[in-house]
Amino acid sequence: MKQRIFFNEVATRDGFQNEPAFVPTDTKVALVDALGECGYAKIEVTSFTSPKAIPMLKDADEVMGRIRRVPGVEYTVLVPNLRGAERALEARADELNLVMSTSETHNLANLRMPMAHSFAALSEVIRLVAGRTPVNVSLSCCFGCPMEGDVPQKNVLDWVARFADQGVRGVTICDTTGMAHPAQVSHMVEALQARFAQLQLTLHFHNTRGMGLANVLAAVQGGITRLDGSLGGLGGCPYAPGASGNITSEDAIHMLDAMGYDTGIDLPRLLAVARQMAGIVGHDVPGQVAKAGRIGDLHPAPASVQQLRSQFA
Ligand code: COA
Ligand code: ZN
Repeated sequence: MKQRIFFNEVATRDGFQNEPAFVPTDTKVALVDALGECGYAKIEVTSFTSPKAIPMLKDADEVMGRIRRVPGVEYTVLVPNLRGAERALEARADELNLVMSTSETHNLANLRMPMAHSFAALSEVIRLVAGRTPVNVSLSCCFGCPMEGDVPQKNVLDWVARFADQGVRGVTICDTTGMAHPAQVSHMVEALQARFAQLQLTLHFHNTRGMGLANVLAAVQGGITRLDGSLGGLGGCPYAPGASGNITSEDAIHMLDAMGYDTGIDLPRLLAVARQMAGIVGHDVPGQVAKAGRIGDLHPAPASVQQLRSQFA
């Protein structure tokens, strides 16, 4: 049987948060609705952050209120603090995706507080929603921080353990600034699976240094079945210097499909949505399969080939 891989689409959160021009609420709702029909396990719709920190997603409450929920798809939201959690519950999010960094400097830049304060705030959120809504924790900079450098794997595992002890359902290991390489990913996923078999483990890669799909492969071949991706390859953390796009969902899905994995995604349908992304954000996007077509999409041969065929017949 084919190995199932579960995709979480983050374009409307990780993707849009970094865009310079506001994407209208109607467009966001229409995009989430279209993505809901593509076969995703999960869609990270938006974030309940401070509108001053992330103005692009200031319409989070309205977007969550207006999307059409497809049965079987989980609609998750990013939450940085208690205020965000209250908004997420009000919006009937299927999951709260809490966020903190494993680098003190990145946490101060991104969340304006030390890691210990984030941990205390997130612990309060976990207690608040216990038994009501599942919680995932996204840990940023797990493979390195552009300001601090190396983030020891032991520190990452210690943070995962602290949240696992509080009963969270899942943890996402984020390569926020595209510093991971495949050998490091293999090592990390081996350690994670050995210690946290009970957790839903998701890997979140950025393609900042061109290693995104190689890292996806390392993770999947190491037994990981849950991945974040962003349509078109949009994305990036506004507080991570030099950060660029997430791995492109449709490119990763196309690769895994070609290799015989079951992604659950209707790829032609997804590509049709992916081809709208440049128009939505008003600039070219990095995704490649939307431009080149799938491996199996044939192109007409040039007229010269017909002439040569006759000539050599
Ligand atoms: N939703 C809406 N408003 C919020 C909020 C939330 N979750 N959290 C705080 N605010 C508002 C407060 O009401 C306050 O508003 P006011 O200035 O009108 O009184 C203002 O934001 C500042 O609140 P404070 O508690 O002092 O927060 P802060 O300025 O220290 O910021 C965060 C902390 C975490 C709220 C903010 O840094 C943030 O939202 N960061 C988002 C990071 C992010 O998503 N990064 C990318 C993803 S990794
Ligand atoms: Zn990210």
